[in-house]
Amino acid sequence: MGIRVHRPYIIAEKDDHRFIWLGLDEAEAERGILTNQYLIVDKNEGLLIDPGGQYVFERIYRNVSEFIEPENIKAVFFSHQDPDVVGSLIMISDFFPNAEIYVSKLWTRFLPHLGVIEGVVMKEIPDEGTDIIVGKTSLKAIPAHYLHSPGNFSLYDPKVKVLFSGDIGAAVFPEGTWYLFVDDFKTHVKYMEGFHKRYIPTKRALDIWLNKIKELDINIIAPQHGAIFAEKNVKKFLDWLRNLDNVGLDSI
Ligand SMILES: [Fe+2]
Ligand SMILES: [Fe+2]
Repeated sequence: MGIRVHRPYIIAEKDDHRFIWLGLDEAEAERGILTNQYLIVDKNEGLLIDPGGQYVFERIYRNVSEFIEPENIKAVFFSHQDPDVVGSLIMISDFFPNAEIYVSKLWTRFLPHLGVIEGVVMKEIPDEGTDIIVGKTSLKAIPAHYLHSPGNFSLYDPKVKVLFSGDIGAAVFPEGTWYLFVDDFKTHVKYMEGFHKRYIPTKRALDIWLNKIKELDINIIAPQHGAIFAEKNVKKFLDWLRNLDNVGLDSI
């Protein structure tokens, strides 16, 4: 089976609001871990989620442009500071000139090291989280600290009940395997275990996050790597996290 290019896909929509997965070129796997990027469009405004490194930027820009004028991207949400999340920052100000950057207050001082980011408006997300308004929808940046970054957020979209979970739920596919939605949960667990046991420092961080999202009405959990959990797999995934042990330092 050859390398495939996948078109963007609307994972949820209601009225004039869409939550879009921004496609993939499987050849990207040769250059780094595969990443998912997402776009939320509400009426005429857009928010881009974890746009990623420079080599995926062309695909992102092209696919975003199918759904919204680039100048109507109002905000970019960075879940944390990793290169696979923030790597294309210096291009964002040129290609999405009206986008304000939302990132944990822990990381705003570090991002200028990526290069000249003149004219970029940084919005520091406080530890307790914040609301980000796009069109008529108020998105919720929810604390997910130490999962795996110490200044880390998930993003909940109440309009279509989608939770972007960042690196929580990350999976690494073996060569030749890829799918957008989790089907066989049992097999998928094997692709998630390695990341969750090594990159997450302690189970306590997971317990705090699980407690925080407990009251949310969630139809879909969309992670930054791997596959999307929908319907019955949302509960299976959260149950799996709840029962995970020997995470990070807990295993030493
Ligand atoms: Fe990360
Ligand atoms: Fe990541």
